[in-house]
Amino acid sequence: MEVRLLLSNFYKNKKILITGVTGFKGSWLASWLSILGAKVYGIGYQPNQNKKLFYDLRLTKKINFSFVDVRDYKKLNQKIKRIKPSIIFHLAAQPLIYESYKKPYLTFDININGTLNIMEIIRKSKFIKSAIIVTSDKCYESNNSTKGFKEGDRLGGIDPYSASKASAELITRAYNKSFFGNRKNKCGVSTGRAGNVIGGGDWSKNRLIPDTIISLKNKKKIIIRNPNFNRPWQHVLEPLKGYLILALRQYNNPKKFSSAWNFGTKPNNVTSVKKIAEYIIKFWGSGNLKVKKNKIYEQTNLQLNIKKSQKKLKWSPTYNIKESVKLTTDWYKEVLIFKKSSEKVTYNQIIKYMYDSKIN
Ligand SMILES: NC(=O)c1ccc[n+]([C@@H]2O[C@H](COP(=O)([O-])OP(=O)(O)OC[C@H]3O[C@@H](n4cnc5c(N)ncnc54)[C@H](O)[C@@H]3O)[C@@H](O)[C@H]2O)c1
Repeated sequence: MEVRLLLSNFYKNKKILITGVTGFKGSWLASWLSILGAKVYGIGYQPNQNKKLFYDLRLTKKINFSFVDVRDYKKLNQKIKRIKPSIIFHLAAQPLIYESYKKPYLTFDININGTLNIMEIIRKSKFIKSAIIVTSDKCYESNNSTKGFKEGDRLGGIDPYSASKASAELITRAYNKSFFGNRKNKCGVSTGRAGNVIGGGDWSKNRLIPDTIISLKNKKKIIIRNPNFNRPWQHVLEPLKGYLILALRQYNNPKKFSSAWNFGTKPNNVTSVKKIAEYIIKFWGSGNLKVKKNKIYEQTNLQLNIKKSQKKLKWSPTYNIKESVKLTTDWYKEVLIFKKSSEKVTYNQIIKYMYDSKIN
C-alpha cells in the first residue's frame, strides 16, 4: 500500500545538489524538486546528449547550475563546500552501454572516479546528511534468470558500463561499511538500482524511445535491435520517486536505510523491446517496425525484485507499462506535434504523477 508521503514538507527549502542535472533523469529530478520548493543546485559536464531537455525546461532559471567535472576532486570539493547541500543525488555518469564499448576508459573514469570523489567528499564533510548514488540494474552479474535480481545478489556486469556501475556499488558499500553511520559521520548513503527508464525529453542516441519517436516524427521505419529482450521499463518518475523517498528516510534514520535498493517494475510488467515499440505506434497513431540484428552483447533478461523497497520504503511503482508508455508518447506528441512547451507538459505530468501516487 502506498503511504501518503509529505515530500513537499520535507524538501521545501532544503539545499539539494544533483550531479548530472543536465541529463535526462537529472532534468526531471530538478523539475520535481523545484516544484517541491527545494533549493536546487546542479552540476553537469560532458558528454551530455540530453542537455536540450534541461534548457527547454528553463532549469537554468530555476536552479543554481554550474559546469563541474566530477572527476576533478579539487573543483568538486570546492563547489560542494561552497553550496553545503544537506542531500546529494549523484547521477552524473556515462550512462550508455553502446557508448561504453566505444569509450571504455572514459566510462570507467567517470562512473568510478566520480563516485569515489563524492564518497570522499562526504567522508570529510559534516553538512551532508543523505546521499543517493544512482547505479543501475545492470550492476548485477548476469544469470539470465527471470526471477528478478535481489539486492544481495552477486554484482558484476560484463560490458564496461555495467562493470563500472558494479564498481560504483562496491565503492559505496566500502565507504558505507568503513566510514559512515558512526558517531563521526552520520550521513546516510545508499545506491539506487533502477531499470531502463522512459519518459518525455530523452534525446539520447541508441535508446529505444528517442530512436522510435524520431523515426515516427520523420515518417521513417522504426529499426529495433533485440526485439525479444525483456527489460523492466518504467517511467522516469518511478525511480525518482524512489530516490526522493529513500533520501528522506535516510536523512531521518541513516542507520536503518543506508544500503542498496532496487527500483524496478512490478513482476508482470517486464516487457519486450518489440512490445514497447508497438505500444508507441498505437499511442502515436501510425508507424512501422523493422528488426535489425545487434552485434554487441547485452543481457537478455533483466528483472529486479522490488520487495525490499516495497516493504521497507513503502515505495511502489504507480503506473503499469502501458500507462508509462502512454505518458511518454503523450509528452512527445504534445511537444512535437501540438507544439506545447516542454516545461508546461513536464510540469503537468509531474503534478499528475504526484496525484496518481497519492503524494503531495
Ligand atoms: N536512463 C536510463 O535508462 C538509466 C537506467 C539505469 C540507470 N541510469 C543511471 O541514471 C543516471 C542518469 O542517467 P541519464 O539517463 O539521465 O543520463 P544522461 O546521459 O541523460 O545524463 C548524464 C549526466 O551526467 C553528466 N556527466 C557526464 N559526465 C560527467 C562528468 N565527468 N562530470 C560531471 N557530470 C557529468 C552529464 O552532463 C549529464 O548531466 C546515470 O548514472 C545512469 O547510469 C539510467
